[in-house]
Amino acid sequence: MEFDPKTPQYLTSDKSSFASISAHERWPVIITSAIDDLHRTVGDVTDDEKRKEGKAIIEKIAALKYEIQHNRQLTPLLDDGEPGVAEYNKELEQRGSPRWHDVAWLFSECYLYRRMSALFALSKHWKGYDVFARQKMSTFKSSRPAVLELAARYKEIALEAEKGSTDGKTPEQVEQAERILFSEMCEICLWGNATDLSLLTSLTYEDIQKLQGSQARKAAEKNILVNDLDAAFGVLSKARKEKQSGERRVDIVLDNSGFELFVDLILAGYLLSAGLATTVVLHPKLIPWFVSDVTPPDFRDLITALADPQGFYTAPDESGREHSPLSDKELSEVNFLFEQWSQLHADGKLVIRPHAFWTAAGGYWRMPYEAKDLFEDLQQSELVLFKGDLNYRKLTSDAAWDPTTPFTTAIGPMGPSSGIRVLAFRTCKADVVVGLPAGEDERLRQLPGGGDSQIRKWAWSGKWAVVSFSDGKAQSN
Ligand code: F6P
Ligand code: MG
Repeated sequence: MEFDPKTPQYLTSDKSSFASISAHERWPVIITSAIDDLHRTVGDVTDDEKRKEGKAIIEKIAALKYEIQHNRQLTPLLDDGEPGVAEYNKELEQRGSPRWHDVAWLFSECYLYRRMSALFALSKHWKGYDVFARQKMSTFKSSRPAVLELAARYKEIALEAEKGSTDGKTPEQVEQAERILFSEMCEICLWGNATDLSLLTSLTYEDIQKLQGSQARKAAEKNILVNDLDAAFGVLSKARKEKQSGERRVDIVLDNSGFELFVDLILAGYLLSAGLATTVVLHPKLIPWFVSDVTPPDFRDLITALADPQGFYTAPDESGREHSPLSDKELSEVNFLFEQWSQLHADGKLVIRPHAFWTAAGGYWRMPYEAKDLFEDLQQSELVLFKGDLNYRKLTSDAAWDPTTPFTTAIGPMGPSSGIRVLAFRTCKADVVVGLPAGEDERLRQLPGGGDSQIRKWAWSGKWAVVSFSDGKAQSN
């Protein structure tokens, strides 16, 4: 906590904040869905000992829900032999063993997922079990139309990029065309974040499809409140000119699996085929996190689905809905993606690199001191893309900044002269927001459903987005 900014953090006791709604309403729903999942799995287990242990875990998760709903104190984590126990418990003590309804939102929400993972880590038969895996894959299945649309677009772009055809265009025209394509790929990747499962707990198949796809994206362009994509394109294209032979790495600190991971891989593949990066390093979590975040097994599940798209997308499911077969064209487009990504991975150009710091309780202001190895690793990158709302909350320490505070100030030691170029792609799903022009927050609060002078409601639903850049290498150049 000593490295955190002095600006106070959002608390679950702030009645006007999404923190309070999360603690009172959303967490119990999320925990109930975890219990339902485990019930279903336990129901199919034939091994008596394993079944008994599964039921005991269900009871412990139910007890956790009771603790939250009855505003009990947060208790120290049991030592499950996994990273972070001592750090979480130390911070719990420093915070004076707070209660669920009066505690820093960021800390308590991270603690919640870390606590759930300990229940499985401490078991004999359920180590590594992910109570959210089922939901993650079923949402990916619901994303079929957007997946197919993007697979087609990706093939077109990748073939075009490999040809490198400039067709008599001036260098300026080529650069302008590239800039537009870069923005399109980034916007696909940005809005992929709108369908995360922790927030949209009751989406229907149709709802999910409406949020994805090119029409939805076009309509949402005006909702990007801060857009620093040009600056990000500038650094990547400059690096390409200046370091033609060396490594040029781009990192993606991942957020959600399923459709969002799919669009992250689309962006990674595009950056590699357009020569804007020579390596892309992807950073997943090591434990189930904020419902839908990517863990290494989620990669495997996504790639397995894409290896047999016909089987995956037409298999009967609980909805009872009939799924029409994919056409030969659609199959070949998905297959193109699958082959490309497998090859990039085999060539060492697409690297997966988990780190325990991503599931620590604190914000990224602590990274240079508490995860020096990771901080130094990110300094090697040309550009580090942080995906999603939670990463943004952690970059800004989930503090109640004035919304006109520059992004570079709000990210503290990750900002200027950190040696790290930070690009945040965030659809807004929490109160914290920075980098807005004066008056913008007030304007948004006055829109229907936007809130009022006390409540920044517009920032909770994922409808608005910010794309913020900080060039931490600028002074050392
Ligand atoms: O605000 C809802 C919420 O669950 C936050 O707790 C969290 O920051 C966020 O959604 C998760 O969203 P994302 O997957 O975009 O990080
Ligand atoms: Mg997430």
